[in-house]
Order: sequence, then C-alpha cells, then structure tokens
Amino acid sequence: MKNEKLKILPWSLEIKDMDAEDYPFYESILAQGNGYMGVRGFDPAGIKRNSFERSVFLAGFFEYIKPGITDMVNMPDLFAVRFGVSCHEISANATLDLRTGLLTRSSIWQLASGEEFSLVSRRIISMQNKHATALEVEIKPLDGNLTIVLETGLDGDVTNLPVSDDQMTENTECLRLLNPALCEANQSGGTLIMESTYSKRRVYQAYRVWANLPLCATGLAIRDYTAVRLEGVIPAGESLILSKTIATYSYRDDVDDPLSATIQLADQLAELGFAGILEESSQAWDKLWTTCDIELDGDPKLQGAIRYNIFQLLQNNAADDPYVSIGARGLMHGRYKGNYFWDTEIFMLPFFLYTRPEAAKNLLLYRYHMLPSARKVASSLGLKGARYPWMSSDTGTEQCETWDTGCCEVHITADVAYAVQEYVRISGDQDFLIHHGAEMLVETARYWVSRLTYDDQRDCYNMLFVKGPDEYCGVTTNNTYTNYLVRENLLGAIRAIDFVRQQPQEWSVLQAKLQVTDQELETFAEVAQKIAILYDPEREILLQDELFERLQPLDISTHKRGAAALYRTIPYDRLQRYKVIKQADLVLLMVLYPERFTSELKQNIWSYYEPLTLHDSSLSFGTHAHLAAELGYQDVAWDYFQKSVFLDLYNIMDNTDREGIHLAALGASWQALIQGMAGLRQGEDGKPQVNPKLPPAIRGLRFAVMMGGYSFKVIITQTETKIEAHNH
Ligand code: BGC
Repeated sequence: MKNEKLKILPWSLEIKDMDAEDYPFYESILAQGNGYMGVRGFDPAGIKRNSFERSVFLAGFFEYIKPGITDMVNMPDLFAVRFGVSCHEISANATLDLRTGLLTRSSIWQLASGEEFSLVSRRIISMQNKHATALEVEIKPLDGNLTIVLETGLDGDVTNLPVSDDQMTENTECLRLLNPALCEANQSGGTLIMESTYSKRRVYQAYRVWANLPLCATGLAIRDYTAVRLEGVIPAGESLILSKTIATYSYRDDVDDPLSATIQLADQLAELGFAGILEESSQAWDKLWTTCDIELDGDPKLQGAIRYNIFQLLQNNAADDPYVSIGARGLMHGRYKGNYFWDTEIFMLPFFLYTRPEAAKNLLLYRYHMLPSARKVASSLGLKGARYPWMSSDTGTEQCETWDTGCCEVHITADVAYAVQEYVRISGDQDFLIHHGAEMLVETARYWVSRLTYDDQRDCYNMLFVKGPDEYCGVTTNNTYTNYLVRENLLGAIRAIDFVRQQPQEWSVLQAKLQVTDQELETFAEVAQKIAILYDPEREILLQDELFERLQPLDISTHKRGAAALYRTIPYDRLQRYKVIKQADLVLLMVLYPERFTSELKQNIWSYYEPLTLHDSSLSFGTHAHLAAELGYQDVAWDYFQKSVFLDLYNIMDNTDREGIHLAALGASWQALIQGMAGLRQGEDGKPQVNPKLPPAIRGLRFAVMMGGYSFKVIITQTETKIEAHNH
C-alpha cells in the first residue's frame, strides 16, 4: 500500500501533488507533537469535513463517555484558517522536517472568479516550550491584486467519535465532550476556555495574530469559535504574511491561575514570533537528536524511516510528566480511546531507557502513581495486591470493554514488573527501586500469588483463564510467556526486598507501608519455583499454552501476512479455534531475555511458531526481525525489519489512515536494529557491548546509548566496532 507520492529523505518526508482521497493517510503520518500535545497533520486552511476530524489531543486529558469509561478528548482546532470568499485548493505539497519538527504545506488555490493564489503554511508544536504552538501563513496572488477575506483563531466546535475496542464495530455516534466557558476576541487575538461536560476539566487557550500588510482586522467570538477576521487587498507581487502564536494550558498544569498563565504566555509568544518559536524549538530538537539519532550508512530511505520512527516516539512522549504514558496510537489518533497498553513497557520503553532514562523513569512513575487503582482493580476481582488494567487512562482503572481480553490478558501486570527491572538494571537507578520499584514488584507479586491456582496433583501453580500476547489463542491455561514473566516478577520482588533491607532507614519506611513478612517472601519463592512452564523435552521446545496443540490447523499459505488482518475475513471467534498466532508470543519471550535461552531453543521456537504467525498486530514484525537477526537469519530479519520500520510510511497494516501511527511498532523497530542487528547488551562491567550482525544493506551504524548514568557512542563499521564515551 505504498503511497507513490511520498518521498522519504534522510531528514524529511516530502509529498508532492497530494491526492485528496489520501488526506487521512497524510494527516496520520504528518502528525506533529511535543509529548504535551499531538496534532494530526491536517491542512490548517482545509475544509472541516467532520467535527471530530481535525484532531488535537493533550496528554492525559480524558473525560468519561459512560460510567467508568473514558475517551481522550479532542481539543479545539488551534490552526483554523478559513476563507470568507469562495475558493478551493487545486494542488498541494507537504514537507515534514524531522530535524526541526516543522511541517510546511505549499498549495495553490483558486477563487470562484478563476484567480489563483499560492498559500504556504508552516506550523510548529514547540519542543522547547510545551505550551507553545505557532502557525505562519503566506499568501501570494498569482493573477494581479487579490481581494482577500480570511479568518484565523480557535475552533472549539469539536467532538469525539469514540472508537470501540471491537475492531469490527464502527462507531458513528459523535459526542460533544467540551463546552465553551469563555470565548473572546479582539482585532489582534482572542481567548477560549473550553470545559469538559462531566468532570468540568478545562483547556485554556489564547492566540495572537500579526499580519505584515495593513488589512482591516475585526475580532469574532461566536459560542466556541474565536477568530480575527482580516479583509483587504494583497497587491500583485506582494505576499501577505500572517503569523499566529498560540498558548495552551489545561487543568493538568500545575499553575495557580491557568487563565493568566495562558494570556501571559500568549503575549510572550507574540513577542517571540513564529521565527523565534521555531528557532527555540529547533534547538530543543537538536539536543534530542544528539542523544537519540541513529546514523546509518545505507539507503537514504531507510535512514529517513529510522529517523521517522525515533521522531514519532519523541513527539508522543511527555518526557517530564510522571502522570501519563503513551497511548497505542500516541497523541495522534483517538483509536483505543487514547489508552495505554503493554505497548509502552515492552515495545516503546527500551528506546527511552537507552536514550532518555529520565523519560523512561517517568513512564514507569505513571504506573507507580496508578498503584492505588491497580490495588482496587485486584480487590474488585477478589484478589490481593495490585493488578494493572489491560487498557489504562488517567484513572488507572480497566478501560477494556471486551471481557475476554480485559479479564484474561493479565500479562500486562508482569510486563510492568519486567519494565521496572529492566529500568533499574540498565539505568542503575537504585533510588527508583527503593522508593517506587520495590513497592510495585511486591504488590504485583501479591496479585500473582492470589491469581494462580495450586494443582495438588502436579504440585504446581497454574494460570487458568488466561490469554497471552497471542490474542487468537482462545481463553487458555498456562500461557508460557505470561507464566515466565510472572516468575520473574516474583523473584524480582524478593530481590528488591533483599536490596532495600540493606538500607535500614529506607527499609523501615517501605516496611511500614508494605508489611512484608518472611513467610510471604517464601511463598513468592515457592510459587516462582512451581509455576507451570510448559516444556516439551522431546521436541526441545516451550509450548505456548495448554490448548495450543489441540487447535485446528489452518492453511495460511495464501493469506498475505502483513496485509489486512485475518479477523476482517474470518470471524474473530472462529480464529480463536484455529492453530494460528496473531502476533509474537514465545518469539517475544526469547528477545526479552536474550541470555536465558540456548540458541537451539530459540531456533526451535522460531521454526515452529514463526510459520504459524499471521502478524495481525503491528507489534509482531519488529520482534520477529529482532530474533531473526539474533539467530543470523539475515534475509528474513531484513524482510521483517522493513515491514516494521516502514509500517506507517508504507501503510503496511492498511489502517494508518483510519487509525493513526502504531507507536509500539516504532519502538519494536528500534529494538530490532539496536538490540537485534547491532546486538547491544549490558556487559558484566555494566557498560555497553555490541555484537553486530548487520544486514548487507546497512554498512555502518552510529548511535548513542545511556547505561548506568553514562553516555556512550557506538560506532560500527564493516571492519571494526568502537564504543567510546559520548560527551554532549
Ligand atoms: C494487540 C495488542 C496491543 C493492542 C494495542 C492489539 O491488536 O493484539 O497486543 O496491545 O493492539 O496496540
């Protein structure tokens, strides 16, 4: 589903002569953000087709749409450029600059009279000041003087179209989640406060408009629409340059008076102007690229795609906010109602852990802050400790409405525990372990003890009523991926307590909270030792679960893997009884613990499970590329890697237009390249080591990596490998 018009360059995406029917796709891939805010790449001056489409989201801004269930709220359109004369776009090009985050759209427009003008819009979501956004519009007459009537401001007439968890159900019901609380305008700008319907949560926005030509300006404020209206003539040969700077705060920001803060910032941004905001933001991007970039010697398209993956991970991460995580579609689409999944801990976190450990820590702190809810989730199920919900928003309660997935896909809790241990191992942040991680590990371990069922016939602990990462496995027993991570969760809790005990002061604080007994720790150890891990000694292979072997075979040779998911043609329920795998399950386990399993076992897992895997989840390709690279299956690794790294750019899942960007795939691509192909590991000395198995198409690789609080630069060429201190 490659889009022929899209050109991927080492530092940019270029689209020439955009097709109107592909706008939803372009809007997905051209999305911009700074972790605080995400904006789809819609045309500022484009027609508003539906009130839910010109999506702008703020991290962590959710509202209830029914009892207990939230949706990520679509914010006012902050670009909103409208013509007061009848005209339409006749051609358009766009460029997204990955180095600076600038999105430029150049178009030609025609008035009803036949006169044409060019319109260039440039927009920036500042990486330097998360509350700042700026737009510059340049209009040039192409046929003599141009009489223009133009408005720009904030359009609060927006709705949500909540997307059902059931991927086959299309929702058509729009919900208005924001109402105006204040709407003002004058000839140079305006203010809009919108308030959410149920929780009365507010977003505060103020903008200033400046034009280089002396046009007649009026302020318009109608219900939830505030704009400056400009009327006048643009003389032939001259251009109208209009710049708009916008300040945004919300109820989530820690300021005493958000309205004053917004207005004050709007004034400061107006002083700074578009160029100043761009300059500051570009400098912030420069810093990010110093630690996050991967340079490769090879195909420029691949270079651009890798940067694009990194760019979107950075744009969707609120690096300084310990109360939000990253949604499966980030801040760029309302799919999954903006919810956070295991996608963050298992697929995205490694990138942040090795490049921006502070950001990784904040992602884990989100889970720490959700512990009270996780305890409630566990107790509501009659269980102990803390159980993380399969889908989580700002409340930390279960947001999954599909009962089998929500109730059975319990591995999320063990995934969080895995991420905590990985974070501590790689960053060396013992403080985090003492003050947050240990509590998370113990509370989740308590959950597992109460969730597992003792089998006195076999003297083991079984995980009944479970679904592993492979969501096509039915509701099963003893999913090995889950049980293995649970075991590590239990052992991790014991190790964490042993460690904190050595710091008497900290231990007394933690112990006052947790009341851990020696007997409890013994139980953790016993359960860890006796949890069922299904291994077939004859075939020397781990079994996915207890039902898998009994499922009905299905010939998938004719199904194009990596196209529309099979549940689109075979009912979801029927798929649960076929011996096919939706996405990496045991293959994933192999890459999570690269040193634990022998290469024979890894090969056996690959040979048995890979041919049965449909990759009906975008999480699957990168993991397969990762293990294939480790096993030295270079061609296969390369094939999978391309599917992962170009997943959205080439619309591999055939849904990037309808669903936005697949954040986990971006992270999985990073892992495949850095941990799989470059073979990055932590050595015994706590420092990075690599064992490159680069495919022929990548002749060299340079990247920075953080470990134990130090930054290193890894340089891999065809003849040598160097790891040196990275001073930046
Ligand atoms: C996958 C899950 C994933 C979710 C959100 C589903 O299709 O099977 O593993 O967490 O999408 O990305």
